[in-house]
Amino acid sequence: MILSELQPAPPDAILGLTEAYKQDARENKINLGVGVYQDDSGVTPVLPSVKTAEERVLAAEKTKSYLSIGGSPEYKAHVQELLFGATHAIIRDQRARTAHTPGGTGGLRVGAEFLKKVRPEATIWVSIPTWANHPGIFTAAGFQVAQYPYYDATTKGLDYEGMLEALRKVPAGDIVLLHVCCHNPTGVDLSESQWHEIGAIATAQGWTPFLDFAYQGLGDNLERDRLGLVTLLESVPECFIASSFSKNFGLYRERTGALTLVAHAAGAAAAAFSHVEKTIRVIYSNPPAHGGLIVSTILSDQELRAQWQEEVAAIRDRIQSVRTTLVRELHQRNVDRDFSFIEHQRGMFSFSGLSDQQVDFLREQKGIYIVKGGRVNVAGITSRNMTYLCDAIAEALKSG
Ligand code: LMR
Repeated sequence: MILSELQPAPPDAILGLTEAYKQDARENKINLGVGVYQDDSGVTPVLPSVKTAEERVLAAEKTKSYLSIGGSPEYKAHVQELLFGATHAIIRDQRARTAHTPGGTGGLRVGAEFLKKVRPEATIWVSIPTWANHPGIFTAAGFQVAQYPYYDATTKGLDYEGMLEALRKVPAGDIVLLHVCCHNPTGVDLSESQWHEIGAIATAQGWTPFLDFAYQGLGDNLERDRLGLVTLLESVPECFIASSFSKNFGLYRERTGALTLVAHAAGAAAAAFSHVEKTIRVIYSNPPAHGGLIVSTILSDQELRAQWQEEVAAIRDRIQSVRTTLVRELHQRNVDRDFSFIEHQRGMFSFSGLSDQQVDFLREQKGIYIVKGGRVNVAGITSRNMTYLCDAIAEALKSG
C-alpha cells in the first residue's frame, strides 16, 4: 500500500492562508495573504479590456486543437515586446526564445528543470527573504538552494553591501535569482546603477541571472519596471526570465506566464530552446490557450492596449493610495513605530516589520491573514476594512 501511511503535508505558506481564511466564520476577517489585487469594494475584477478580448476570442475561435510545445508565435512575440521593448536589439538579433508556460510559476519550474539537466552541479542563489515558493520550486527540480543578503530589517531598505559581497563570491556556473521589480516580499528594489554593478559582477564571475518578473506595471509603469532587466542585459550575455500576466492582466487562474531565455547569439538561443521544449513536453506537453489569446488580442489592438494600460495604472494608483492611507492611519493611532517606509515600498506587498508572533495574534484574535515574515498584501486593504485593520495592528504592536 502506498497511501495508508502518509501524514498530511503542511499547508502552503501563502495559498494555505487563503484556505484557512475561507474556513474562518468571522465576519470582519481580512485576507492580506496571497498577492491578488482587489478593488476598493474587495472584488478581484476581470479587467474590462480582458472581458472585451474574451468576447472577441470566443467569437473568433475555430479550434481547440493543441498549441505547439512553446505556445503560439503571436503570444511569444508579445511577451518579448513587453519584456525588452519592441525595438530592443535582443529581439532584432533573435537572441531570445520564449515559451508560454502555465503562469510565472510554470516558467520558473520549466527553467529549473531545464537548468538541472544542463547544469546538474549548479547551485541556485535566492535573496533573503524571497517569495516563499522559490526554494520549493528549485528544490523540487533537485537544486541546492543558497541565499544572499538582500533586505536590511533595521533600515527597512536594501542590504546592498551584503548583497554585493555575497554575489562577488558566487562561483562561475551557478545561477542567481533576482526580482526585476516589486521584490516579493519586501517591495524593495534595486536602482539602475545597482543593476549595472550587479551585471558587471555576474559577467566577471560567470554566474547566470534568472529573473523573476511577475509585477511589470505595478511599480512605476510598464517601461520603467523593465529597467533592471534591460540594464542587466547590457552586460550579461545570457539569462533566464520567468514572467507572468497574473497581476498586470488579472489573469491569475488562466495561468498565463512565460519562460524566456536569452543567449549570446541566435543560434545558441534556438539550440537551447529545443531542450526547453523537450523539458516542457514531459511535464505538461503544451500550454493552455485561453489566457494567451486574451493577452495577444489586447496587445495587438491599439485601442484595447491603451485601455489596458489605463487599467494597470489604476491598479497601481489604488495600491499607492492605500499605502499612503495606511501609514497615516497607523500614525494617527500613536503606534510606537514609524511605518512611513511602507509608502516607499513598491508593488503589491508591504513587508510590514510585524513579527511572526504579531502575525499569529492578528490571525488568531482578529481574523486578519498575513504571510509569516510580515508580508501584507496592500491590495487587499479597502476603505471598509482599513479602520479595523489599523486598530488591530495597533493592538498587536502592544501585545508584543
Ligand atoms: C504571492 O506571492 O502571493 C503570489 O505570487 C501568489 C502565489 O502563488 O504565491
